[in-house]
Amino acid sequence: MKVTVVGAGAVGASCAEYIAIKDFASEVVILDIKEGFAEGKAMDLMQTASLNGFDTKIVGSTNDYSKTAGSDVCVITSGIPRKPGMTREELIGINAGIVKMVSASLIEHSPETIIIVVSNPMDTMTYLVHKTTSIPKNRIIGMGGALDSARFKYRLAEAVGCPISDIDGMVIGGHSDKGMVPLTAKATRNGVPVSEFLSPERLEKVAADTKVGGATLTGLLGTSAWYAPGAAVSELVKAIALDSKKMFPSSTLLDGEYGLSDLCIGVPVILGKNGIEEVVTISLTDAEKAKMQESAEGVKKTNGLLEL
Ligand code: LAC
Repeated sequence: MKVTVVGAGAVGASCAEYIAIKDFASEVVILDIKEGFAEGKAMDLMQTASLNGFDTKIVGSTNDYSKTAGSDVCVITSGIPRKPGMTREELIGINAGIVKMVSASLIEHSPETIIIVVSNPMDTMTYLVHKTTSIPKNRIIGMGGALDSARFKYRLAEAVGCPISDIDGMVIGGHSDKGMVPLTAKATRNGVPVSEFLSPERLEKVAADTKVGGATLTGLLGTSAWYAPGAAVSELVKAIALDSKKMFPSSTLLDGEYGLSDLCIGVPVILGKNGIEEVVTISLTDAEKAKMQESAEGVKKTNGLLEL
């Protein structure tokens, strides 16, 4: 499998690193507009290959999309990240133009590619790729839910006081501070509802901390996070590469599912060699349904800022 990662900043480099280290791809191309930057990141990462034990070839490119030709999966991380105090929505003006141009260039050289959108505001950027390209909806995936769910599991394990591997849970809805819907009632510790271990107040706090997971890190780091976003992307790419049919919450174009349409928002999907192979409809409580509706309204409001 050949994978392209556009953007050699912290998130893009982390995506490339985790994809390479998991050793399922034959080649990863990192592309950036800054002269020599992607080449430098690629060379540095290649020099970890003998140490970390992977055979993935990593190639850097300064804005030369011909090097990305024939990519099976392309990951778009380009654009500006948030600064402390900013919402993801505030990035729309600059990032929309970048994502539109990048997706067109990628598709020109890899017409069969699956695109994973990471740039923020992610649900709106995913919608933009649908609106401005002609590739089918199964091949456009917004990465947010896998990351938000990882943050949810981290917070749940912290609250329960157990290893993260004991915990399972999902976050659906928009990838925004207000729009995330952590499914607290469905989260489990080894199959046992977490509500058996945590009070309703503690669970509320876990959900609240999860929703501001990215903002908390932006406050600490001065820019947005990269390790968990990169790791989350690598898991989506791996599910596609291995055709594993794993379920991840991801942003996808809805057409009536969950009572929503004409927007991209996070819902559980099955990932395999064709990208999104199925949108999974799970039953939601009335409270979860209401939160999902509210989240969708927020995403649609941001979509309304796009100049389509
Ligand atoms: C975050 C960015 C990637 O949540 O949206 O860290």
